[in-house]
Amino acid sequence: MSFSAQFFSNPVRILAPMEGLSDPLMRQILTQIASKLGRPYDWSVSEFIRVTQHVLPNNVFYRYVPELKNNSLTASGTPIHVQLLGSNPELMGENALAATELGALAIDLNFGCPAKTVNNHRGGSVLLDEPKLMRDIIAAVRDKTPSCIPVSAKIRLGYHDTSNMEDIRKAIADSGADWLTIHARTKTQGYKPPAYWEKVIGFTELPIPVIANGEIWNHDQALRCALQANTPHLMLGRGAVTRPDLVAQVDSPETDLSWHALIPYQIAFLQGEAKNDLALIGRYKQWLGMLSRGYIEAKVLWDSIKRVREKQHIIDLLIEQLP
Ligand SMILES: Cc1cc2nc3c(=O)[nH]c(=O)nc-3n(C[C@H](O)[C@H](O)[C@H](O)COP(=O)(O)O)c2cc1C
Repeated sequence: MSFSAQFFSNPVRILAPMEGLSDPLMRQILTQIASKLGRPYDWSVSEFIRVTQHVLPNNVFYRYVPELKNNSLTASGTPIHVQLLGSNPELMGENALAATELGALAIDLNFGCPAKTVNNHRGGSVLLDEPKLMRDIIAAVRDKTPSCIPVSAKIRLGYHDTSNMEDIRKAIADSGADWLTIHARTKTQGYKPPAYWEKVIGFTELPIPVIANGEIWNHDQALRCALQANTPHLMLGRGAVTRPDLVAQVDSPETDLSWHALIPYQIAFLQGEAKNDLALIGRYKQWLGMLSRGYIEAKVLWDSIKRVREKQHIIDLLIEQLP
């Protein structure tokens, strides 16, 4: 069976890779909520793992993708794909192979990261200006990776502008990528609205599935994105952190995960694994800040815990809010 038939027989909903945000703990919580709401994510993609000089040791893969030890599934059973970022085709191929030997279900390649440190080392979105190298990287990874494991690419519309979109499209077409995800903005456009969903259309002429991404915060935007991009397949990023029920709302707009229903998941987050409590509290505050955009109650709680440094104190406040 082709990957297209195997993975895309229905519209897919993907939880985006987000370094420092959708880490293993956040993935665990968000995929659990989605499953509970009856619309599990089809899969999620790990934060990027940077490939620079050698084949990474197993502990690095396990640190970024602990799900590898659980058949590459989150606790609620959502598959996690491994994302690699780098510019040396051969080394990328070898690392992809190493990841599959640890049980990676699929390899995704990052050509969208805007970070200066990464771009200065010829990684991430800067490669959109080097379509031939991009093609060579994907082809090398495809070549090294067992044929039963899909290899996908995640791109933006361009680096400075969209002038070489046609060359990027050709590079993808020649690369052997099994599917493509497009964050519908250039690197220069960063993360600012709007996203240019209509620009994705050019890529949907490729004979591989295309997943559209960028600026989907609610049901209406999801519909408009799918329509304008001419693909039913969507990846959700910050919107999925802000409204963890967004994945269900895309197809069932009446879905509404109340603040109260979200509290146990916030407590579970605060009880999750982290380097230390301070790091965990920081991560939780980051989430609460984003939840404030989706829930007024989050804003109120945020104001009352701004200076709190004890995890249990926050958990107690959350418990108090339970009906
Ligand atoms: C904090 C943050 C970290 C990100 N890290 C990654 C990453 O590791 N790999 C990647 O391909 N994209 C990364 N992205 C981009 C997202 O996957 C997504 O393409 C982008 O946020 C647009 O979707 P959205 O508007 O729905 O958030 C990141 C985005 C954010 C906000």
